[in-house]
Amino acid sequence: MQTGVATGTTSATAAAPANTQTAQRIGVAREIFPGEKRVATVPEVVGKLIKLGFSVSVEAGAGDASIISDDAYRAAGATIEPDAAALWAAADIVFKVRAPTLDEVAMLHEGLTLVSFIWPAQNPDLLKALSERRVTVLAIDALPRTLSRAQKMDALTSQAGVAGYRAVVEAANAFGRFFNGQITAAGKVPPAKVFIAGAGVAGLAAIGTAASLGAIVRANDTRAEVADQVVSLGGEFVKVEYEEEGSGGGGYAKVMSEGFQLAQRAMYAKQAKEVDIIITTALIPGRPAPKLITAEMVQSMKPGSVIVDMAAEQGGNCELTEPGQSVVKHGVTIVGYTDLVSRLSTQSSTLYANNLFRLCEELCKTKDGVINVNMEDEAIRGLTVTKEGAITWPAPAPKVAPAPAAAAKPAAAPAAKKGGHGHGDAEPMAGSQLAIVFGVAAALFWLIGANAPKEFLSHFTVFVLACFVGYMVVWNVKPALHTPLMSVTNAISSIIAIGALVQISPIAGASGRPDELIRWVAGAGIVLTAINMFGGFAVTQRMLAMFRK
Ligand code: NAI
Repeated sequence: MQTGVATGTTSATAAAPANTQTAQRIGVAREIFPGEKRVATVPEVVGKLIKLGFSVSVEAGAGDASIISDDAYRAAGATIEPDAAALWAAADIVFKVRAPTLDEVAMLHEGLTLVSFIWPAQNPDLLKALSERRVTVLAIDALPRTLSRAQKMDALTSQAGVAGYRAVVEAANAFGRFFNGQITAAGKVPPAKVFIAGAGVAGLAAIGTAASLGAIVRANDTRAEVADQVVSLGGEFVKVEYEEEGSGGGGYAKVMSEGFQLAQRAMYAKQAKEVDIIITTALIPGRPAPKLITAEMVQSMKPGSVIVDMAAEQGGNCELTEPGQSVVKHGVTIVGYTDLVSRLSTQSSTLYANNLFRLCEELCKTKDGVINVNMEDEAIRGLTVTKEGAITWPAPAPKVAPAPAAAAKPAAAPAAKKGGHGHGDAEPMAGSQLAIVFGVAAALFWLIGANAPKEFLSHFTVFVLACFVGYMVVWNVKPALHTPLMSVTNAISSIIAIGALVQISPIAGASGRPDELIRWVAGAGIVLTAINMFGGFAVTQRMLAMFRK
């Protein structure tokens, strides 16, 4: 251990100080939770951490379950510590995946910084034990997810994405047929029908994966705003026939009314009879999982159908789920594995390692291997649950309120939004505001019309009309298609090639031959616009192909 170098020596509120401290050592602990196969960093990331100025130690065998050998870590520049005690003693910062056990907590030395999942709301005793060791703990699960700057560090998202993918793989494993429809000499195979309950991070990953395997995918979520994302990933959004705003703010759902739940159950019962596979991911953080799939619904499914209940750990979305098990009930396989992320541990470890590396970049902007837990930084403040022994959880609510204003609208508002184009969430202007805007615009136009030269007026009219038409076109295109739209308009803008062609032609110029320099410039212009034109259309085609089934 390099003494006197821990974060404890940095000020809670100061920005990165001019640092004369010795570079810190990051220790990567071996996970001891039964069945946990992930590891908190991978060899590719070890090199990047060393470039940030840190030294890295890895506990012997930490990567074994993810098929990463000690030698691979060594080759990347890490040193290998023989056991947990040696690792925790040598490290200034410890990276872990699972929250530490009380035995591990006992190994923490004062001034150490621990980065791992903690779940402080569910583990108050652990938080207390950590604070008693006078350490700084960054709970990766407490990151304010709504800050766009924090997305690169968002391990909840990266891990849930892996779980959603794996849920489909588990479903495919338990299902006795293809996912895609096929017409072969041996007979016609219909595509599998998959219904996904809850279109959060894991649900969206499952939709994309099942759609890419060729299944017909349907999904439902209480938050209507995810409908566009479901469609853009190749799914169909199935609405509950009941008008109620489902967003509880911050990208999470709220508990729905009795009336809504009744209507939702009726819709789920209908889907259960029709589909082959149900993947449930519905959850409101801090609450038991809503029971969406009843025993009768399971009974009504075709024999050989599959349910993957991703919420098994929180009690399950299906009444018949047995957490951690795969069971067959009424001829339906119900998969309740709680270790889906661990079942793809090489991938999930790599993504988690990248999240932690991005966090280190934020903590060590000076790139000298010394972290600064800057409590003025909203992202860092959010995930700091103890600072040098003081419990700092929960963090104050983020200043940026990302929830759409629609949440505060009166109950009648959602019905009025029906049939919008994905931008319907924008707050409409009040009548008086609209009148003021029109009044100011009219006055401006009058001023310009009265004073500007005639030629300017005709150009200006075309410009205003172009702005209006452009606005109407873009606003009526679904947000998911904005990128291909931009790329095709970019390609169309290559019409300026005509200007270059006119310039290069022999009839240009007063003498019948264009100036030599102009010809060269026009030639270069044609080459560049050709790249823009053909490249733009090619990119558009590729992007649109991503949306086609
Ligand atoms: P998330 O919070 O991003 O998504 C949950 C979604 O469920 C939200 O979109 C929410 O609006 C929706 N929802 C809530 N109540 C609903 C209801 N009554 N009806 C329909 N939709 C409803 O969560 P994330 O990260 O996608 O995780 C989903 C689930 O997967 C969680 O239960 C999580 O614990 C679990 N999980 C399980 C793993 C495993 O190994 N089994 C691994 C990772 C995540």
